[in-house]
Amino acid sequence: MSYTIKQNPVILGIESSCDETAAAVVRGNKLLSSQIISSADIQAQYGGVVPEIASRAHTDAVDEVVKRALKEAEITLGEIDAVAVTYGAGLLGALLVGLSFAKSLAYSLGVPLIAVNHIRGHMAASYLFSGHLKPPFITLLASGGHTAVLHTKSYTEFEVLGGTLDDAAGEAFDKVARVLRLGYPGGANIERLAAKGRNNIAFPQCLVKNTGKLQFSYSGLKTAVINYCHNAEQKGEKVNAADIACSFQHAAIDPLVKKTVECAKACNIKTVCAGGGVIANGYLRQTLKDACEKNGIELVLPEKSFCTDNAAMIAAEGLIQYRAGNFADLSLNAKAQIPLK
Ligand code: KG4
Ligand code: ZN
Repeated sequence: MSYTIKQNPVILGIESSCDETAAAVVRGNKLLSSQIISSADIQAQYGGVVPEIASRAHTDAVDEVVKRALKEAEITLGEIDAVAVTYGAGLLGALLVGLSFAKSLAYSLGVPLIAVNHIRGHMAASYLFSGHLKPPFITLLASGGHTAVLHTKSYTEFEVLGGTLDDAAGEAFDKVARVLRLGYPGGANIERLAAKGRNNIAFPQCLVKNTGKLQFSYSGLKTAVINYCHNAEQKGEKVNAADIACSFQHAAIDPLVKKTVECAKACNIKTVCAGGGVIANGYLRQTLKDACEKNGIELVLPEKSFCTDNAAMIAAEGLIQYRAGNFADLSLNAKAQIPLK
C-alpha cells in the first residue's frame, strides 16, 4: 500500500510492554497529549510485575487510554496519519494487547502501522524536549533492561560505546529495593530514602576497570549491598537503610555520569541526551547537569514522567520511522526480546 507522506504527520503512539498502558499523540515533534493508565499499584501487591495481570490490565485499559489521548490532543480518529506501536521488547502477552489494538486501528483508518522498538523509543524521547535537537549526540540509556552509552550518529543509526556486562541499572535499583524491603517499584523508593541518608559506605562502583573497554557491571554492587545487610544481621547490628540507599545510589550512578561526559569529550560531541526509567532519578539528573555544564556540553533531558514508560516516546520514534518510510504490515508480531544492536 502506498501512503501520502506528510512533513508533520499526526501520529498516535501506543505502548503496552510492561505495566503501563499508554497512548500519546504528536504532530511532527510537537507533543499534543500523553496518557497513561498504570497497573503498578496492583503489581505492587505482588512485589513485581505479574505478566498475566499486566495483560488483563492492558485489555481493560487500552481503549480508554487511546480515547483520553485523542481527547487531550483535540484530535479525531480521522486526523491520525499513522499508528506507532511498541512491538518489543517486553512481556509477550502485554505487548500483544497494544499491538492488536494498533493493527486494527491502522487497518480500519487506512493509515500506516509503524513498529517501534521500545528501547529506541526511550532514545527518541529527548526529541520532544528540544526544538533544535539533531544528531550527532551521546545518549545515556538506563532502564530496567538496558544500560549503555551510545553515539547517536543519525536519526536511525547509533553505535554502542559501552554497556553492562550483567544487570541493568534499573534492575539493580529494583533488587536493592527488595533487599531493603522498600517494595515495588524500587527505583523511586530508593531515591526517596537516599535523600535522607549519607554516602558513607564504600560499595564497589558499577564500572569494570582495566579492560580497555567501557563496561559497567551491577551484579557485584548488588551483591555487596546484600552481603553488607546479611553481615550486619548476623552480628545483630541494625543497618541504616538511608545510608545504604544513598551510598548505593552514588556507586550506581556516578560512573554512568562520568563516563557519559568522557564519551562526549572523546567523540568531540557537544550534546548529551538521556532516556529510560533511571533517568527519572533526581540525583542522576543533577550530577549529569553539573558535569555537562562544567564541560560546556548541552544536556537535553526528557521530563521525568517521559523517562519511565510512556507512549509519547513511541510516537517520537514513530515519527523517525515514518520519515524513513519504515512501515510494518499486519503480519507484525510481538517480540519478547530485541537486541540493542
Ligand atoms: O524505562 P523503564 O520505565 O522500563 C524499562 O523499559 O525497563 O525503567 C524502569 C526502571 C526500573 O528498574 C525502575 O526501578 C527504574 O527504572 N527507575 C528508577 C527511578 N524511577 C524508575 N531508578 C532510579 N531512580 C528513579 N527515580
Ligand atoms: Zn521502558
